[in-house]
Amino acid sequence: MGFYYFLSSFENLRVISFSLFAFCVLPVIAAAKNETIIRHYKFDIVMQNVTRLCHTKSIVTVNGKFPGPRIIAREGDRLLIRVTNHISDNITIHWHGIRQLRSGWADGPAYITQCPIQTGQSYVYNFTIVGQRGTLFWHAHISWLRATLYGPIIILPKRDASYPFLKPYKEVPIIFGEWFNADTEAIISQAMQTGGGPNVSEAYTINGLPGPLYNCSAKDTFKLKVKYGKTYLLRLINAALNDDLFFSIANHSLTVVEADAIYVKPFETNTLLITPGQTTNVLLKTKSYFPNATFLMMARPYVTGLGTFDNSTVAGILEYELPSSPHHVAMSPKKLPLFKPSLPTLNDTAFTTNFTKRVRSLASAQFPANVPQKIDRHFFFTIGLGTNPCDQNQTCQGPNGTKFTAAINNVSFVQPAKALLQSHYFGRSNGVYDPSFPVSPLIPFNYTGNPPNNTLVSNGTKVVVLPFNTSVELILQDTSILGAESHPLHLHGFNFFVVGQGFGNFDPNKDTANFNLEDPIERNTIGAPVGGWVAIRFLADNPGVWFMHCHFEVHTSWGLKMAWIVLDGNLPNQKLLPPPSDLPKC
Ligand code: C2O
Repeated sequence: MGFYYFLSSFENLRVISFSLFAFCVLPVIAAAKNETIIRHYKFDIVMQNVTRLCHTKSIVTVNGKFPGPRIIAREGDRLLIRVTNHISDNITIHWHGIRQLRSGWADGPAYITQCPIQTGQSYVYNFTIVGQRGTLFWHAHISWLRATLYGPIIILPKRDASYPFLKPYKEVPIIFGEWFNADTEAIISQAMQTGGGPNVSEAYTINGLPGPLYNCSAKDTFKLKVKYGKTYLLRLINAALNDDLFFSIANHSLTVVEADAIYVKPFETNTLLITPGQTTNVLLKTKSYFPNATFLMMARPYVTGLGTFDNSTVAGILEYELPSSPHHVAMSPKKLPLFKPSLPTLNDTAFTTNFTKRVRSLASAQFPANVPQKIDRHFFFTIGLGTNPCDQNQTCQGPNGTKFTAAINNVSFVQPAKALLQSHYFGRSNGVYDPSFPVSPLIPFNYTGNPPNNTLVSNGTKVVVLPFNTSVELILQDTSILGAESHPLHLHGFNFFVVGQGFGNFDPNKDTANFNLEDPIERNTIGAPVGGWVAIRFLADNPGVWFMHCHFEVHTSWGLKMAWIVLDGNLPNQKLLPPPSDLPKC
């Protein structure tokens, strides 16, 4: 049977933590009113044999779990997570979507905010969850190790607060991943050497399970057992490496209530789109009677690029408990008819556009959308693929014998040998990074028209430096170089507001007027439309060094990434905290 778990009330949830997950949850230190609760977790990075699709391999895990353990906390809690590296690879962990106010040392991207944790070393990630509640996730942030190193972060409202929607009967995390029969570190290092596209996954997974549509996999199926007449909160997370996913449950509609740990104006849909790095909470209202049927939930990719991709489908099962005997299934569910959802076609951009536009901030008095109205700095970034020349005496498998790469404003980011945050904090940027990241393309062209013949990029470790509290508007413009493609852009350290999007080239004279400055969705990851643009706004109120990158891991490997450096403000509470004493060294 599947690896699944229910969350009912937080109180029950803690009981679960202490029994099943006691090894990773140390006792919570009880706190008086207004005192911060501290939650301790212990993450031991260990290898573990796991079998899927009849292939057994040794994978990197936290505490031997795949997917990894859940982090559960309330808004306002402080987390102390001790990560100890018992494997031969270097490790870092990123708490994806956590704002890390003034605590950038705990953010996790390797060589950006920290040097990696080396074999035999430990590092305590120490941060407080401020003004956030909902679903996020954690994952490794070095090379492709997040392929197997990921798990949910569940942030419950403060003890005296409630959801702005009907209290669910139970809560279920559903985390999508990608399964590769081969070693993902070998896949990406080979691709980086040959310059070609990396091999694709063999399967998608739901809570680590590929489900019955793959060979030798029926026993590895996620099953969600429900009671009729109840409301369930599904906490969906896309932890796949390289694929946007469509998701649907047969004969059930879903109500979207939250995205990237921000409440949204509830809306109903049969299908949703979720890019890598995004999370979505949905309410699932079960039928008001025992339906005499079982239902598949399925996910498969939304694909826009020209490269090869995994076109398979993951399925899980929604099974109703019999009313008479809730814990003992008298009639075999195998005898019941099985319904399948219908998913959009793999390249259904019309669906994607429509869906994305429906996601809006709740923007209530209690949860306002504080959209920056006055902009201090405007940026225009092209995002897309490109090439680097092949090394002499080598043959390369990229376009026309070159090496695939990817860039922002034609700068392909080169990973530094020392972490940027330390270099910035100690004023030793020389030879580490260069604050000259272009505000807009140095050579403008028709970004979404016929691609230029010259696809070469420049390479460098370039950043943008912003004074504290700068309000930023950023246009992310897709290019058609080596094929237009939708890119899920993720920003660390902030949420941003998605104020506009469109196809073709962004036109400031005509498009700005249509921006939504009332209730745009606030999030940390947005799929920039294929052959189009998206406009985001954020307030740079968090001092530190903040990575921004495509959440397709292959594009990050190729350099579709950059960093923002936000300077300290003048007040004491506007400054980056000093580095912890156990911060790893390079
Ligand atoms: Cu979820 Cu920088 O990543």
